[in-house]
Amino acid sequence: MEFDTAELASLLAAVLPDVVAWRRHLHAHPEVSFHERETSAYVFETLQQFQGLQLTRPTETSVVARLIGAGHGPVLALRADMDALPITEENDVAYRSRRPGAMHACGHDAHTAMLLGTAKVLLALRDRFQGEVRFIFQPAEELPPGGAEPLCESGVMDGVDAVVGAHVWTPLPVGTVALRAGALMASSDTFEVTIRGRGGHAAQPHMGVDSLLVAAETIVNLQHIVSRNSDPLQPLVVSVTQVRAGTANNVIPEEAVFAGTVRSFDPELRRQVPGMLERIVRGVTEAHGASYELRYDFGYRPVVNDVRITGLVREALLERFGPDAVIEPEPSMGGEDFSAYLAKAPGAFFFLGAGNAAKGLVFPHHSARFDIDEDVLRIGLEAEVRTALHLMSRLAADGN
Ligand code: NI
Repeated sequence: MEFDTAELASLLAAVLPDVVAWRRHLHAHPEVSFHERETSAYVFETLQQFQGLQLTRPTETSVVARLIGAGHGPVLALRADMDALPITEENDVAYRSRRPGAMHACGHDAHTAMLLGTAKVLLALRDRFQGEVRFIFQPAEELPPGGAEPLCESGVMDGVDAVVGAHVWTPLPVGTVALRAGALMASSDTFEVTIRGRGGHAAQPHMGVDSLLVAAETIVNLQHIVSRNSDPLQPLVVSVTQVRAGTANNVIPEEAVFAGTVRSFDPELRRQVPGMLERIVRGVTEAHGASYELRYDFGYRPVVNDVRITGLVREALLERFGPDAVIEPEPSMGGEDFSAYLAKAPGAFFFLGAGNAAKGLVFPHHSARFDIDEDVLRIGLEAEVRTALHLMSRLAADGN
């Protein structure tokens, strides 16, 4: 590496108290997806104070900062999400949410604060690397269609050679960093099916077409998709999570609606699922004289980490944190719109362990008691800075 480790350590130590303060401010003032007005203004003003970054606001509640190094070279994008969740915080901490009904219950406050710190440190080292580091502060990771897609459409990924993102993760103990090449998180698509029958008196079922019973049979039959229609070695989830039908004990409902989610990693399988679903819905409804309407919405793509970029990130993390700390996580069927950036450039998304059982920090993401061990801020800051410096130097050496 082309920097002095003592110098880097002192830069990191100098900015860490700011990172903690930024995170606590953001935690106390959460804003839910697509409403990050104060948050994005705070990020913009903080970056402005650093002096030397080129700032833009490509979408209403996003901020992008460009840091130009010493001459022509690769372009690396680093991404943080900024949105909170519609949850009322139950933690009793000094920095607890001051807004009922909004809470940073997924740690995006930490992501934003760490990326601000990373920008400040890399700004001080701008004459040590060639090319550009682009910091993307995005809104609305939690709410499809998400904030990443419109940012990509606005051109923030133009010319980018690699993209990296990190997520704090309380199921893993603080001090660990979890990274894997290939599929990491699933695509998340949704569907809604409306079954139309013929309503009537519950005492004369033969006079109508029971939409509720047809819906029930359809839901059971959909279980064939995972258990019989798709390769058992390809992960797939088809879950019906909502059913709505009926108004009274003695009325056969005219209409029944059910909805759910589909998760997968394989793009080809993902494309096939709507057809499998419709075949079953059509078959069962026709068999019983009902009709149907199917709505299928493709959501976030799967997060698939690039082998080469993931390898370079791993090198940087191993050099600082060692083989005991750098672990390989199991893929998760959860979704992430970081995948939108991965459709534009190769990249890597990794997890920063943020839980600590000894401190009682064991609550899952999206819980009203969720909190992180703030030691992850120090680790995540250094992980991001070192990853960026290593990637810039290696991508430049490899000719992009
Ligand atoms: Ni999250």
